[in-house]
Amino acid sequence: MLLTTMDNSKLIAEIKRLKAEKNAVILAHYYTLGEIQDIADFVGDSLALAQQAAKSTADVIVMCGVHFMGETCKILCPNKKVIVPDLAAGCSLADSCPAADFGEFVKAHPGYTVLSYVNTTAAVKYYTDIVVTSGNALKIVNSLPADAKIIFAPDRNLGTYINNVTGRNMLLWDGACHVHEQFSVEAIVKLKAEHPNAQVLVHPECKRSVVLLADKVGSTAVLLKHAVESDCQEFIVATESGIMHEMTKQAPQKKFIPVPPEVSEGSVGCSCNECAYMRLNTLQKLYDCLLNEAPEIHVDENIIERAKLPIDRMLELSK
Ligand code: 13P
Ligand code: SF4
Repeated sequence: MLLTTMDNSKLIAEIKRLKAEKNAVILAHYYTLGEIQDIADFVGDSLALAQQAAKSTADVIVMCGVHFMGETCKILCPNKKVIVPDLAAGCSLADSCPAADFGEFVKAHPGYTVLSYVNTTAAVKYYTDIVVTSGNALKIVNSLPADAKIIFAPDRNLGTYINNVTGRNMLLWDGACHVHEQFSVEAIVKLKAEHPNAQVLVHPECKRSVVLLADKVGSTAVLLKHAVESDCQEFIVATESGIMHEMTKQAPQKKFIPVPPEVSEGSVGCSCNECAYMRLNTLQKLYDCLLNEAPEIHVDENIIERAKLPIDRMLELSK
């Protein structure tokens, strides 16, 4: 059946029908469009999505997020079909760590425990001892011996945050996320002056100068939980603006103020607090991918075998 983007309610009905027919489960990250989050069976942060995939009994997993999330599902569920609405949904942070360069770097540092953020390709996870997410990184680093020599890749901002909180001196790969790098101290200070009672919520992928302004630092799930449970009624949100969909849903009486991205000359009109990759997931593409069971995520068997170990370690250490 050919459906256009004009038929949203029809698309939603068809997605639900196909999902049941194919025993599929739809997983979505908090940064995807609200309409995608609303139709998903499960919405979560990177950690929760991996945990959900690991225990799924579905035959088909539809990952509405970005490519590395699809790869993580495939590594955890190699016998299931993992499909995504758009294969082009990548991640600038994962791109900042090419596997061949990282492999050389690891080889040049024998004796180091290699920690990789989940925002990496499967090929980078191949060289990794333990995967972490922003939701469990502190716990996992704290579980390692105090004198452990650690490599952390690829996010220098998350790595700096972990070093500062844990007192470690991890060797950091020099990568970053193009969305979280945009948030500026000036924009937050200005918003704080306009909303003096608001708390500042910051994702640890932001620069250190921004993290220092935070009332709460954490993964998307941690920031959401804090916003819902806190007595505070106003929040300045320094992460991808998609999270505000679930914040507003769970705490409709509260006010959520997105941090506007740094507006430099030439960037007028850009929505830099939105991840363009995440927003490639649309209802139409979700319908198409369920109908065609494509595009499918494929990961080389040798990589799956090796990359599963650090993901399993992460899941074990997150219990
Ligand atoms: P979390 O889902 O761990 O909060 O990470 C955010 C992110 O950048 C996902 O790509
Ligand atoms: Fe990657 Fe940044 Fe988008 Fe997250 S927000 S998927 S880290 S580019």
